[in-house]
Amino acid sequence: MTMVPRGLADLIDSCEVAAVIADTGLHGTPLVVANHAFSRMTGYPVSQIVGRNCRFMQTGDAAATARKRIHNFVHDDPAMQDQFIVPYTRRDGTPYLNLLHLVKMIHPDHPMLVLGIQFDITSQSISELKRSSATMRYHMRLIEKLMLAEGWSLEPATIDIEDSLERVALCAS
Ligand SMILES: Cc1cc2nc3c(=O)[nH]c(=O)nc-3n(C[C@H](O)[C@H](O)[C@H](O)COP(=O)(O)O)c2cc1C
Repeated sequence: MTMVPRGLADLIDSCEVAAVIADTGLHGTPLVVANHAFSRMTGYPVSQIVGRNCRFMQTGDAAATARKRIHNFVHDDPAMQDQFIVPYTRRDGTPYLNLLHLVKMIHPDHPMLVLGIQFDITSQSISELKRSSATMRYHMRLIEKLMLAEGWSLEPATIDIEDSLERVALCAS
């Protein structure tokens, strides 16, 4: 059984930006929450996403480097948040690049939860991405407030799409 605080799933579901939560306390770190924006972005219904690890959507060898970095971040890195570019394939077979922002959420009595925020950087223009990033910043402040009130700790997420793209490009070079 997962320990997602009451209200968090609703808050995430009300957000128009793709967002998910994975529970490291469950075998295989599956997603325990996925919103409708994530379902729209990937083409998979929420019922086929929850309970599975996101890796099933990665595109073969192209995702191997990102996959290693994400694995290291989730399991071995003390950093509380980071960003990754992951090659992805929609359910209909369309490939795209996903900018993934991961935020760790820690509680003294529960295994870590990880929030994942996704931006489709292939199909969205810079102005659309900036709008999405502003929407997500607003939602993140609500999520942070709710989690802190429930006894969880997390770093305030730094969601700035231009800064993210620059940082990810620097990491890749
Ligand atoms: C909250 C969360 C969201 C994730 N979202 C994605 C995603 O959108 N795309 C992706 O390719 N991988 C995503 N991942 C990464 C994979 O689920 C997995 O952690 C990664 O493949 C490394 O682990 P593995 O080596 O066990 O596969 C996400 C991970 C977490 C924790």
